[in-house]
Amino acid sequence: MNGEGTLDYERYLNTKALLSCQKDFADFCNGDELQFQIVHQVEELWMKLIGYTLLDIDDYLQQENTNRVVTLFGRTHTALRLMISQLALLETMSPREYQEIRLRLGNGSGQESPGYRTLLKMPTHLWQSFQTYYLDRHGLTVEKIYNTEYAHGDAYVVAEAMAEFDELFQRFRYCHVQLIQRTIGLGSKSLKGRPVDRLIEGAHATFFPELWDIRSQMTDGWGTQYGVVRDSLSAH
Ligand code: HEM
Repeated sequence: MNGEGTLDYERYLNTKALLSCQKDFADFCNGDELQFQIVHQVEELWMKLIGYTLLDIDDYLQQENTNRVVTLFGRTHTALRLMISQLALLETMSPREYQEIRLRLGNGSGQESPGYRTLLKMPTHLWQSFQTYYLDRHGLTVEKIYNTEYAHGDAYVVAEAMAEFDELFQRFRYCHVQLIQRTIGLGSKSLKGRPVDRLIEGAHATFFPELWDIRSQMTDGWGTQYGVVRDSLSAH
C-alpha cells in the first residue's frame, strides 16, 4: 500500500494522490473545468483497465479458455459502455465555457492519450491469437463458424465477443464525434490545426474487418436465392 493518510481506506486507494490529480479550485477558469479534467482522467483509468484486461484475454485465447475469454471481454464491454455514457457529462458544459477551457489546453490532443494509443495497437495481437488457436488449429475459418459449419461453438462465441468489443469502440468514437459537434462544431480545426471532420473517418474504422465482411458475404450468398430484389410474399 503506497497511499498516504492514517485510515486504511485512504492508504489502500491512495486517495491523497488521487484527489490531487486535479488543479486547485482557485486555478480553474470556470465552474466546468473540474468536470472536464475528471472526465478525461476517469476515461484514462477505464482505458488502463481495458488494456490490462485485453492482455489477460490474449493469454486465455492462447490457452483456448473460452469461459475466461468471454467473462473478461464482458468486463471490457462494460468499461467501454461507461466510457461512452460518461461523455454525456461534458454535454452539460456550454460551448462558450468550453472555449474558455480550450484556451488552457496548449496544443494537447486526444491523439496523445496513452490509453487510447495503446488500445489501438492491441486488437491486432488478439486477432492473431484467435486465428491461430480458435480457427487454424481446428481447421476452421470465419466463413465456416458463421455459415457453412455454424454450430454456435466456442470460436463463434469468442468471435461475437470480439465483434461486440469492436462495435463498442466504434460507438465511443462516434459519440466522441457527436460531443465535438455539440461543443466546437465539426467545421473547425483541432488544436494541432487538423480538420476536425477527419475524425469521422476514424469512427468508421474497425479492428476485426473479417467479422463484419462475413455478414455481407452471407447476405449476398443467401440472397442469390432470390436475385437482387426479392418478390413480395403476396406474389406466392
Ligand atoms: C468537449 C470535449 C471534447 C472535445 C471538444 C474534444 C475534441 C477533440 C478533437 C478536436 C480531437 C481531434 C484532435 C486532433 O486531430 O489533433 C479529439 C481527438 C480525440 N479525443 Fe477528444 N474531445 C473532447 C473530449 C474527449 C474525451 C472525454 C475523451 C476521452 C478519452 C477524448 C478522447 C479523444 C481521443 C482518444 C482522440 C483521438 C481520436 C482519434 O484519433 O481517433 N476526447 N478530440
